[in-house]
Amino acid sequence: MIVLGIESSCDETAAAVVDGDRRILSNIIFSQLEEHRPYGGVVPEIAARSHLDHIDGIVERAINEAGVTFSDLDGIAATGGPGLIGGVLVGMMTAKAIALVHNLPLIAVNHLEGHALSARLAADVSFPYLLLLVSGGHCELLAVEGPGQYTRYGGTLDDAVGEAFDKTAKLLGLPYPGGPSVEKAARNGDPRRFAFPRPMRGRDDCDFSFSGLKTAVSRTIANLDTLSESDVADAAASFQIAAAEVLVDRAQHAIDRFRLEHGPNGTLVVAGGVAANGTIRESLTALAAETGFRFVAPPPALCTDNAAMIAWAGVERLGLGLTDDLSFIPRPRWPLAELKQRIAS
Ligand code: KG4
Ligand code: ZN
Repeated sequence: MIVLGIESSCDETAAAVVDGDRRILSNIIFSQLEEHRPYGGVVPEIAARSHLDHIDGIVERAINEAGVTFSDLDGIAATGGPGLIGGVLVGMMTAKAIALVHNLPLIAVNHLEGHALSARLAADVSFPYLLLLVSGGHCELLAVEGPGQYTRYGGTLDDAVGEAFDKTAKLLGLPYPGGPSVEKAARNGDPRRFAFPRPMRGRDDCDFSFSGLKTAVSRTIANLDTLSESDVADAAASFQIAAAEVLVDRAQHAIDRFRLEHGPNGTLVVAGGVAANGTIRESLTALAAETGFRFVAPPPALCTDNAAMIAWAGVERLGLGLTDDLSFIPRPRWPLAELKQRIAS
C-alpha cells in the first residue's frame, strides 16, 4: 500500500509518500519560518498564500523523490483539520483534485491523529497505548485504542505547553520559533536558580495548566534590574525543568488510570512538536523506567509537523476502509475524541 500525504495546517507546506511497511519513501517539508519571523508568530493570511504558492511543487518533489507516479498510489491523505483554515483548505483542495483526476480514495486526516499514530510509523507499537500529545496548540493525555479510537484522560485548561515555550521565549527575548530557542538557551543555564511553580502537580486528574508558569516567568524577569545572558539561560532552564516536571506528574496519573483500564504493562508514547525537547524526553524516559512502562518517542523530525505522519495515518485508515468522500469539509476545530462518533455513525 502506497499513500501520498499532504500537511498544510500551520506554517509548514509538506508532502510525503509512505508505504504499508512503514517505509518513508519521501518526506518533503517547506518551512515558512522566514516569512513569519518578522511578526514573531504565524500570520494565518501569509501562511495560506504561501501554501498556495508552494504546494504543487512540494507534491511533485515528494512523488519524484519517492520514485513513484500517481498511478502507483493507493490513496491520497491530507490534513482535514484542526488548524489554520486557509492552509487546511489549500491542502485539502489539492488532495481532492488529485483524488478526482487519478481516481484515488481520499483520506481526510485529523492532524492530531497524525501525531498520535506517528509512533507506529517510527516503531513497532501496538494498541492500546497511552499518548502524551504536546504541541503548539494542544496538550492532552489520551488512551489510543486504534485509529479513530481515542479516550481523553485530560488536557490543558488554558495554554498548551508549546504555547508556554513560545511565550517564555518572547519574554526572554529569544528568537522565534520559541521552543527550540528555549531549549538551546537552557543548555547553559542553572535549572535551580528560579523556583517556578509546577501548576496542577499532585492533582488527582490528568489536566494541565501552563498560564501561571508563564506569568511566573514574566514576574521574575520584571524583578531583575537587567537581563543578562546568564539570567536568560537560567530562566530558560528553570522554566524548562518546571514544564518537564509537570508533564511527568500528569503522565504519572494517566499511567495509573491506564493500568486500571488496560492492565499493568503498557506503552507511553509522546508526540507533537514539544516531544522534540531533549529534557522532556529524558524526564519521560525516567518516568517510564520507574513505572515499568515502555517509552516510545518518534525521532524529532517526526515529532514536529510533517507529512509522513499524515500519509501514515492515511495508510492505517485506508487499511480499515475508513475513507472520506469529496464533500469533506475542512475543520478549524476537530477534537480527537470526536473521531469515535464518526466511525460509529
Ligand atoms: O506539532 P507542532 O510542530 O505544531 C503544532 O501542531 O502545534 O508543534 C509546534 C510547537 C511549538 O510551540 C514549538 O515551540 C514547540 O512545538 N517545539 C518545541 C521544540 N521544538 C518545537 N518545544 C520545546 N522544545 C523543542 N525542542
Ligand atoms: Zn502539529
